[in-house]
Amino acid sequence: MTSKLLQKARDFETRYGPHIPDTERPAFHATATIGWMNDPNGFSVYKGEYHLFYQYHPYSNEWGPMHWGHLKSKDFVRWERLPAALAPDRDYDAAGCFSGGAAELPDGRHLLLYTGVQRSHNAEGYLQDIQTQCVAIGDGVNYEKWPANPILTGKDLPEGGSVVDFRDPKVWRDADGMFYAVIGNRTDDGSGSILLYRSPDCQNWELVRILDRSGNQYGKMWECPDFFPLDGKQVLLTSPQDMTPVGLEFHAGNGTLCLIGTCDPQGKDFTRQSVQAIDYGIDFYAPQTLLSPDGRRIMIAWMQNWDTVNAKPYHYRWFGQMTLPRELSIRDGRLYQNPVRELENYRSGCVIHRSIPVCGEINLPGVQGRTLDMTVTVRPTGGERYRWFRIRVAKDGEHETILRYRPGDGTLKIDRTRSGLPRDIVHTRSFLVRPRDGEIKLRVILDRFSVEVFVNDGEQAASAVIYTRQEADAITFEAGGSVRMDVEKYDLHFEQEA
Ligand code: FRU
Repeated sequence: MTSKLLQKARDFETRYGPHIPDTERPAFHATATIGWMNDPNGFSVYKGEYHLFYQYHPYSNEWGPMHWGHLKSKDFVRWERLPAALAPDRDYDAAGCFSGGAAELPDGRHLLLYTGVQRSHNAEGYLQDIQTQCVAIGDGVNYEKWPANPILTGKDLPEGGSVVDFRDPKVWRDADGMFYAVIGNRTDDGSGSILLYRSPDCQNWELVRILDRSGNQYGKMWECPDFFPLDGKQVLLTSPQDMTPVGLEFHAGNGTLCLIGTCDPQGKDFTRQSVQAIDYGIDFYAPQTLLSPDGRRIMIAWMQNWDTVNAKPYHYRWFGQMTLPRELSIRDGRLYQNPVRELENYRSGCVIHRSIPVCGEINLPGVQGRTLDMTVTVRPTGGERYRWFRIRVAKDGEHETILRYRPGDGTLKIDRTRSGLPRDIVHTRSFLVRPRDGEIKLRVILDRFSVEVFVNDGEQAASAVIYTRQEADAITFEAGGSVRMDVEKYDLHFEQEA
């Protein structure tokens, strides 16, 4: 049965969703049908298609009582809109259907596991959340919440675990036929931990273990975990709140953490070996992955940062977008990310320039645009000392988004100071990159409202939202010192099928 609250959201979508012209949205990055979007949820393969739900408040471009919006795709690039899947319409989720995951059940139904939030005044009169985990089952469009909800509550927590911060289950069915879920929690030291649960039927769950914890080293609450094997290692992803900055690896505030280690498959005991950020740009949070039928681990994330959500042009009727889905791999103990290969099906208008000397600010014939896929490889020529190299995109007389590489200290900087954002917030981020024989390779994916950069075949990624007017489509290159560069550029086209 569709509740009144869910029907209201669906009616609202039908009525107002079509009011947003396609040109006022990203061309190939997922956005809400109407209104606000945050975390990706329930990113899963269901009946051979990729489903993506998202934290959703249709009625404004601000965060509000959380619903789940719904999209699906056959290729991770083009998304079909489906009606809202969940509304906060029960006592146990009246303050929001928070983030969660999804899995296909052996009987062909689609399982959603999400956090239900209840809000009430505590003994001191403060408003306080109680978070529990809940199930909804459906057919890929309509979902029924289970009568047995909530199926995981405070009584299922390890000692010292917080019921206020117990959220964001990511569920999967393992080779042993059991369902597993990782869930974020806050322990009695005030910082985050990731709990692993197991169930034969999704209704009766037992705590397997605490997989890892912050110990107040990597931020406070650990949100939105994911846990999967990759290239012989085990990966634990999480998004910590209230990080303290560490060099150029972690910035303050809401960050992302990739823990790479090992796991014994039976006991599911995780041993952490290395720690790194996931994305080094400005806008990236709450990633979630799926395993595609051809064995690729694909990650998508909210391309936004909580600290800057108020810096938006208010006339847009959508807010928040997802990153391009990325293929993950591990090389030399590090997480690599590259755009899904399906993006290449949308390329046209190939322009190649080889071994171009760069001095002064130059542009190149055929290299401009706002929806494109461009790879730039830069190498020193041994002439005048090479001090810096800059690419400017989304540029006109007033606007530009700059990528600047400095070989001296090995930093790449992304700078969106002049990219149409109306507030004085964080607009630059620098991070360390590793040139190979002095050469650096940058793959830049531009959509109307974003820039994503993949460094050295995916060794690092950096994402940033921009709101530059679409007419600003020039691209220039500039160097301090002698370099030569190769540029390979494709337009990206997304005409709707007839
Ligand atoms: C992360 C998050 C989650 C929560 C959701 C609420 O961005 O805070 O922990 O489930 O957003 O919208």
